Amino acid sequence: MSVRTAILRTSSLKAPLSNSVCTRVTSPLTTSQLVRSSSTGTASYFLQNRNFKSVKGTKASWPIITNSALTQQLSRHATTAAKQKADTKQIVSAAANDKRKWVEVMWSDYLGRYPYVWMRDNCRCDECYYPSCHSRSMLMANLDLDVHPKSVEVKEDGHLVEIVWSDGHISPYPSDWLKLQRFDKTDYDPTKKLSKISWGSEFVNEIPTFSFDDVMTKSNALQEWLKGLVEYGLVKITGAPLELGVLNKLCRKVAFERLTCYGHDFRVESLFNASSLAYTSKALGLHVDLPFYGYRPGVQMLHCIKQVESKGGENQFADGKRAAERVLREHPELFDIMTKVKIDFRLIATDYIDVHLQEAQTMIELDENGEFKSLAKNDQVRAPYMNIPVEDVAKVYKAMKVLHDAIYDERNMIDVKLQKGEIMAFDNNRVLHGRSGYTVSMEGGEDSKSRLLEGVFLDWDEIYSRMRLIDEELRGTARL
Ligand SMILES: [Fe+2]
Ligand SMILES: [Zn+2]
Repeated sequence: MSVRTAILRTSSLKAPLSNSVCTRVTSPLTTSQLVRSSSTGTASYFLQNRNFKSVKGTKASWPIITNSALTQQLSRHATTAAKQKADTKQIVSAAANDKRKWVEVMWSDYLGRYPYVWMRDNCRCDECYYPSCHSRSMLMANLDLDVHPKSVEVKEDGHLVEIVWSDGHISPYPSDWLKLQRFDKTDYDPTKKLSKISWGSEFVNEIPTFSFDDVMTKSNALQEWLKGLVEYGLVKITGAPLELGVLNKLCRKVAFERLTCYGHDFRVESLFNASSLAYTSKALGLHVDLPFYGYRPGVQMLHCIKQVESKGGENQFADGKRAAERVLREHPELFDIMTKVKIDFRLIATDYIDVHLQEAQTMIELDENGEFKSLAKNDQVRAPYMNIPVEDVAKVYKAMKVLHDAIYDERNMIDVKLQKGEIMAFDNNRVLHGRSGYTVSMEGGEDSKSRLLEGVFLDWDEIYSRMRLIDEELRGTARL
């Protein structure tokens, strides 16, 4: 399947709306406005064009409430709603709609529609739900797909809905919890609201930069640093202490390090009998780390503790997302190979433990929307064997070379000589890193090695988790 057909398929799905059963309005409305907005409900959604940029798409309809019962019900409560002067936590009305098999719950600024089966599955009683671990304890085996309410009642002055079900079970639903339930996750996940912004050589002067002390002591600075990492895939910290172990402390502000075959952390310095080319003074081509893992570490951080005074030792970075955009535009005929053919990577080494790791990855991976997801390039550990038909080898090399050239395009690359006390964090699924060679000074013995960086890995799951927790802390958002 070509990229073009992949994108066409995506656009024909209209998935963002097809399972949406809630009508959302952004500001408090009167009941009559609610009826109007829901009966003409349309929404825009976004398609991806071939350069991964979101463009505004056509309009699509979602299920429309037109049944007269609901209209009458809303009208009946119009006066009440006006009197309540938009107490947005208080439920105005709740009623079963047997035709649609959902419960309609109305607040002054929001009308929620909650399918019977979903409500029974999400009962908040002590028997069905265990609050201290925010977990459902009811078993799927006990869920009757045809369950329906015998009664729906608003209680506790509009702060609770109670349903008595056809099987006799009684379910309470607190108003504030129920109102937060939307059938669109982006509404309440702060990490889903961020988009990835690609960059080129101009970025060298625009790298988001943060103070070490701020990130370590202020939740909003930690959050901004992580947001920058999501959006740009490359962020800098300055003013870190010049000692080993600093990154471990920084990791603890987020979660914990990702343990890999190089241990909990690693030192990038010149070693004899090195287990990785990184541990030499040789130049290192641009690469992502550890593509021989099926689940590659999401983020790498490098902390500069010592730096060579003379020429060399710069780190190079390039945005794989921008390179992929360029290849798609300039060599569409090779893009299919990059997204379909798997390249083998392997590591045979002795470091933290003995390893023989192997994984095959496509050069470029797209997500379910046809947008850039990740890139795998690491010529140092690309395996000598290729699990492809021999007739295809030359064409695959052509694709690898074209991608290489796009990454190394001078419009795409930046050179940064990390200074002592600086920490660079980068998205290892997206941003490639490399290093120019340098001369090792050993005049003062082992202790005087002239360049020392310490590195750790972190995973995206932990980062996103921390971002949600900080969002709760800073904005007081409730856990669902
Ligand atoms: Fe590396
Ligand atoms: Zn229950």
